[in-house]
Formats: sequence, structure tokens, C-alpha cells
Amino acid sequence: MSLLVARDIVAGYGAAEQILKKASIHVEAGEIVTIIGPNGAGKSTLLKVVAGLVPAREGSIQLGGEDVTRFGAVDRTRSGISFVPQERNVFGNLSIAENLEISAYRDSGDASRRIEELYERYPMLAGKRRDLARTLSGGQRQILAMAMGLMTAPKLLLLDEPTAGLSPRAADELFDAIVALNRGGLPILMVEQHAVEALAVSTRGYVLVSGKESAEGPGPQLAADPEIRRLFLGG
Ligand SMILES: Nc1ncnc2c1ncn2[C@@H]1O[C@H](COP(=O)(O)OP(=O)(O)OP(=O)(O)O)[C@@H](O)[C@H]1O
Ligand SMILES: [Mg+2]
Repeated sequence: MSLLVARDIVAGYGAAEQILKKASIHVEAGEIVTIIGPNGAGKSTLLKVVAGLVPAREGSIQLGGEDVTRFGAVDRTRSGISFVPQERNVFGNLSIAENLEISAYRDSGDASRRIEELYERYPMLAGKRRDLARTLSGGQRQILAMAMGLMTAPKLLLLDEPTAGLSPRAADELFDAIVALNRGGLPILMVEQHAVEALAVSTRGYVLVSGKESAEGPGPQLAADPEIRRLFLGG
């Protein structure tokens, strides 16, 4: 059984034209799946539909065989989906510790234990726990955003452009952190503009164009496809 199946998703904003036009993707246990595609293709919208932040007007979403299409964002989180947004994904005027604390379930008794686990995994956060999040570097901020996403112990982590704005070196380090998380057993669905690097570490990838997946395949194979390189990867 697939971990996540989003089938024929139609979604948009207000009365404007639909952004997603019967888009379908799936994620299997253990996978890193990357979605690439041009600006405005609907990549972030698709992650938001999976996270329950934008409603699907048509189509269905199954998580571990359960139909979660009608679940709101809170119930999606309870079902095991965690979403790290593309922008403004930490609270700059709160400390690292406070950012983690507010990312726990409200009724969760084991938040402190979870935070200690995350400090062990990411010692940089432990060292800076009392600092304001706005003092972090771009790469450190993304680690914090990811750690916040891990506070609910998700079954599937959604990452929207985790390496946006990072130097090549910081981006590589973040990809290493993402791969390490995945090796620990967590399936990851991410959107990336650093397409070659992201596809290289991905089990599978999708190319989303105008709200519809136009190609799908093993990450390294997609990254090497001449047509895809020409269209999306700058040659
Ligand atoms: N909250 C919103 N209200 C209205 N339109 C929106 C909203 N969010 C996104 N859109 C529109 O939906 C379309 C797809 O946006 P989306 O953010 O999903 O694209 P994307 O593929 O993630 O692009 P990028 O690569 O620039 O992040 C765009 O035309 C955008 O203007
Ligand atoms: Mg986007």
C-alpha cells in the first residue's frame, strides 16, 4: 500500500482559473520524492493541498490507505503529515527553543523529550537554544524549520524549497541532512529549484508543468534526461 496517493487533484484560489489540473503523485514508504517545475506551475499549491491548507476541489488524497481528502490541516497533521513552508517558516522574534515548543501538539505531554531528541540530532540548535531565530544563518534557519516540522513525529515530511536562497555549500549540507533523515526511515516529499542536486538524492521525481505532472521517473534518470535538462535545468 502506498504511503501517499494524491489522485487527479484540481485546486485553485478564489474564482480564478484552477491552478492544479488533475495532478497526481504518490509517495511510497522510504522514498524521497522531488517535484520540480517552472515558477507558478503549482508546486507549492500541490504541497498545500496534501497538507490540507488548500482544499482539493476534485480528486482524492489517501494517506496509508485512509481517505484524508476532507480532513483539515490539523487532522492531516494528526494523521502524520507535516509541512515546512517555502517562506517565513520560523518565528524570528522567538528563540530556537520557543520555536520548537510552539510546534508541538497543544495537548502533547512529551514535547520536551522530543525537543531533546532534536537537540541531539541537530547540536547546532542545542547550542543556540536561547538565541532568537532571526539570528540564524539561512541554512541554520532551514534546519530549525525542519526540526519544527519533526515536532509532531510525522509519517511524511513535506518540504517546500528547503534550499532556496542558500549558498551551494549550505544547500549541499541541507541535502545531506535531508538524506540522513530519510535514511532514518522518514519518507520525504519536497519541491526544489536546485533540480539536479535534489533529483540526485531522490528516489523519484516529478516534473510539474501548468498544474499537471508531465514527467515522472527515478531521480537520477530524470536529472539526466536531455529533454528535461533542456527545459528545466538550463541545458
Ligand atoms: N494565496 C494565493 N491566492 C491567489 N493565487 C495564488 C495564491 N498562491 C498562489 N497563487 C497562484 O497560484 C499559481 C501557482 O502558485 P504556486 O505557489 O503553487 O507555484 P510554484 O510552482 O510553487 O511556484 P514557485 O516556483 O515560484 O514557488 C501562481 O499563479 C500564483 O500566483
Ligand atoms: Mg513554490
